[in-house]
Amino acid sequence: MKDIVVLAGPSSLNLGNHISARLKSVSIPVDLRIFSDGESKIRIDANLLDKKCIIVQSTYPPVDSHLLQTLMIVSCCYDLGASEVVTVMPYMGYARQDRKFLEGEFPTISLIARMLECIDVRNLITVDIHSIKALSYFKLNVLNISSINSLANYAKTQFNLINPVVISPDMGGISRAKDFSKIIQSDFFGLKKMRDRVSGNIVVDENLEFDVKDRDIVIIDDMISSGGTILKSLDVLKKNRCGKIYVMCVHALSDENSINTLKNAGLTDIVSTNSVPRSCSKVDLSLDITNALSSITGDCIKDDGFN
Ligand code: R5P
Repeated sequence: MKDIVVLAGPSSLNLGNHISARLKSVSIPVDLRIFSDGESKIRIDANLLDKKCIIVQSTYPPVDSHLLQTLMIVSCCYDLGASEVVTVMPYMGYARQDRKFLEGEFPTISLIARMLECIDVRNLITVDIHSIKALSYFKLNVLNISSINSLANYAKTQFNLINPVVISPDMGGISRAKDFSKIIQSDFFGLKKMRDRVSGNIVVDENLEFDVKDRDIVIIDDMISSGGTILKSLDVLKKNRCGKIYVMCVHALSDENSINTLKNAGLTDIVSTNSVPRSCSKVDLSLDITNALSSITGDCIKDDGFN
């Protein structure tokens, strides 16, 4: 491990430190200054000559700042002599902009892919990227790992579920719901959600594929942003007189106020991974990421756990 160092970026301090502890590697601090005009400045006070640098920096809101900081950290590592940089971007911002939905739009994720290539990122790990289409723009090696096992195991051990049904809030997430349901051994189905691409308004069909009366529900989504999708889903499920409702997502992008609004809307619990540090981020990704890193770096990374 002596040639591998971990840099926990400003957006992923805890997760980065957990990864570094699991790898038993040196953790290099990244100093961040934000100027009054909003500019970020990065400083890494270390000699990185011939080091393999693992940078952990999630690009949740403020997405643009976190993204630019990632580019700065990568460039700074090379400038300080790093032989290789592996970027861990647990939440990849802009992956929802993966196509032209309306005339005159642009798939912004393709630009992100080119920017990362341009600064010589060759290996990138992300978690449950929004779509496979988003991945198709990357020429560099992207390892898109799934947190569904970890989330479902959490649900299995921590929720007291009665005759549960796993629900994806839209048909795009149905395979995620299917994988999740296999682990908790339940039925699954997807809600039929329509979004108006101009106004952003969403409508969820109230006619469900299964009778959910008195059955506990686990809604699983890749992300919660405004919370609108979950609120609409709750409405529909309650009208169908379901049992308790648990909400799980990979990336809790909402701020704490919106998370509280959701909690007060009749949920039993809301749980996400720590790709975004929030009060509901109870599922730690460090083991999944450490395993993925070992396949990328080619090093035999022995994980003895950490305290
Ligand atoms: C949509 O395709 C995604 O999977 C999420 O359901 C959506 O992005 C959540 O956004 P919001 O919380 O703003 O409704």
